[in-house]
Amino acid sequence: MVTLLASGCLRVIGAQHGVAVGAAAKASALATDPDYGPVLSREFGMLTPENEMKWAQVHPERDRYDFSGADDLVAFAEQHDMAVRGHTLAWHSQNPGWLTGGSWTRDELISLLEDHIATVVGRYRGRIAQWDVVNEAWTPIGLRLNPSPWSTGIGADYLEIAFRAAHAADPDAQLFYNDYGIEVAGAKADHVYAMVADFVARGVPIHGVGLQMHVTSYFDVAQLEAQMARYEALGVKVGITEMDVRLPVPPTPADLDRQAGVYERAASACGRSPICDTLVLWGFTDRYSWVPSFYPGTGAALPFDEDYAEKPAYDGLVRGLQAGGP
Ligand code: XIL
Repeated sequence: MVTLLASGCLRVIGAQHGVAVGAAAKASALATDPDYGPVLSREFGMLTPENEMKWAQVHPERDRYDFSGADDLVAFAEQHDMAVRGHTLAWHSQNPGWLTGGSWTRDELISLLEDHIATVVGRYRGRIAQWDVVNEAWTPIGLRLNPSPWSTGIGADYLEIAFRAAHAADPDAQLFYNDYGIEVAGAKADHVYAMVADFVARGVPIHGVGLQMHVTSYFDVAQLEAQMARYEALGVKVGITEMDVRLPVPPTPADLDRQAGVYERAASACGRSPICDTLVLWGFTDRYSWVPSFYPGTGAALPFDEDYAEKPAYDGLVRGLQAGGP
């Protein structure tokens, strides 16, 4: 299908400045809400399945995979010339009960992880540009692994086992480590940086670091710029992978303007960074954002409101993309 793109939309402006602009997407909204798909494909050149590739959804029983939601989203992306970020292959959350409730030997867990990655990455080989191979491995203080079947049953080696398995299953996919709280200076950011440096030095196939960017409107984008900049020395990419900017609800006009400023500066930071070519938002309309349920009392975190009207944040993204890049 040929997608005719309006010149004023985020995906075109982003592409003109070297940034793929994307959004997390939900198969359920695509299937039930006739307004959802047209805005998603008009504005975004990349999508991340918000939940559909997580273990609990894609691998609900040990011997059964369910690719229905993931397939729908990948098909939609391909119909609309959108790239796909796969999310995610090893995480401590949203795992199926058969996995978390089982008792496994270390070797069994390694086989489960490797088989899952070979199956899921292999199914979409050549069709997924970037994979979040490991998500949120480290606790917020950064010095301990989040408890999961992988960390508890395999140990810290699970990360490189996952990266090697993903690389074997799709040698052309760009493989990312993805986390929150590493867009600001601190122990966690330092720890992740050291881990990525070690992977690079030892030849573990890693190509990028995802800075999630679930932030408030008081976020200091200079922090993000500093974290992005230091990865240049390692020869890996960075991406903004899950951005939203939550506000107290209902937001005031001043809140919406401050939010627009954060989106603007983050987009321009990515555009100006020689190693950032990806800016993905965690959704695009406030109608389906995860923010109100996860951070009670806040919301209105995305550039489109609940009725798909553009907010000041939308114009902020446009200005930021135009200011960055070549
Ligand atoms: C969130 C989804 O948006 C919700 O729908 C789900 O209930 C919980 O997970 N970091 C991540 C994402 O890497 O996978 C999370 O997505 C948000 C935080």
